[in-house]
Amino acid sequence: MARDMRVAVIGCGKIGATHAEAASALPGVELVAVCDRTVERAKELAERFPGVRVYDAVDRMLADADLDAVLVATAHKHHFSPAMQAIHSGVAALVEKPLTTSLAEANELVVAAERAGVTLGTVFQRRFFPAAQRMHDAIAAGRLGGVVAAECLAQLGRDRTYFERDDWRGSWTGEGGGALLTMAIHYVDMMNWMLGTPTSVYGRWATLKHADYIDVEDVAGAVVTYAGGAIATIQAMTTFENGFASEPSPAVAYRAPGFRLAVHGTAGHSVGLQESPELAQAVTDLWTFDGEEELARRWHEEEHGRPSLPGFHRIQIAEFLDAVRAGRPPAITGRDGLTALEVVKGVYLSQDRLAPVSLPMSDDDRRDADRLTEGAA
Ligand SMILES: NC(=O)c1ccc[n+]([C@@H]2O[C@H](COP(=O)([O-])OP(=O)(O)OC[C@H]3O[C@@H](n4cnc5c(N)ncnc54)[C@H](O)[C@@H]3O)[C@@H](O)[C@H]2O)c1
Repeated sequence: MARDMRVAVIGCGKIGATHAEAASALPGVELVAVCDRTVERAKELAERFPGVRVYDAVDRMLADADLDAVLVATAHKHHFSPAMQAIHSGVAALVEKPLTTSLAEANELVVAAERAGVTLGTVFQRRFFPAAQRMHDAIAAGRLGGVVAAECLAQLGRDRTYFERDDWRGSWTGEGGGALLTMAIHYVDMMNWMLGTPTSVYGRWATLKHADYIDVEDVAGAVVTYAGGAIATIQAMTTFENGFASEPSPAVAYRAPGFRLAVHGTAGHSVGLQESPELAQAVTDLWTFDGEEELARRWHEEEHGRPSLPGFHRIQIAEFLDAVRAGRPPAITGRDGLTALEVVKGVYLSQDRLAPVSLPMSDDDRRDADRLTEGAA
């Protein structure tokens, strides 16, 4: 029998704990180590998992721990270095979104992994929602005809406390982007998965509500075209009442609606899902096929009101490790992470140029887009 997959978490902050919990619950997987440059964080997380070793440096852990895979859950600007070190050590890397904040670095990771034959994946766990899988299946089976349009909404709430909780959030140098890069990117990836290859993006962004304490976008709108001809719109904002507030004010009638993706086809049919509130499992909210009303009602009953963490991380990590074992590409690759990043950074670049940006970007456009948002945390 094959040995258990030996896995480590790098970055023991909020989502690192979710990764550790998810990985440790999987059969055939051993969480052997956790690593954080602030070693107290790694120690604190390791206490919950007896026998797990603690490291404060990625290179030492890679040399020491005989790993099959790392789960990279560091802050955005610190995804590249641990992932690249893993690839150079022949260790598979599943990297939190966004894959990186720099297109040059994202591309370097993808190329290095392909050359070394090392599995690289990007965390977009929301693709595993049953509501997303059934939309994808319906589109892939041609039930919509050709796709003509999609709308992708990330209508979210954040407040000052959220941006000040982690020193890297809210700035171009620390986070490298805002509502689009950190939040909407999940659904941008989901839309790419359903619609195919994006061919151009034109968008605008602004900082209208949180400008006293952040400089990244808190609102953005974009039009994305796809190889099959479909025209999609994205709207992203973090300007609602904080969707994460533990004690929401009863006076606030309209809290952050959450995420939504709907896709429409030439056959006159539409499919859609909604994640509301944010971090709940998304449910099918649009399914126009005659005779399937009862089915849609049943899905809603079964899937409504469920939390999405850590269950869908567990599903993605399991799928990724299966791919590593089998030597096949994972469901969500490093290249998918690069494509989603190009759509997002294409919005920043198109605003700078007041012109649409062709995708995939040329090397020059990548350089220009990176120059707009560069800076180390
Ligand atoms: N998939 C999701 O739904 C989801 C949800 C939340 C966060 N995330 C992503 O996870 C990442 C982390 O977010 P968070 O909220 O957990 O951040 P966090 O600030 O709570 O944790 C990041 C941790 O990484 C550590 N770290 C930074 N650089 C390091 C390095 N070079 N080596 C080792 N450790 C290092 C920090 O000390 C910190 O403990 C972000 O990129 C974010 O986008 C994804």
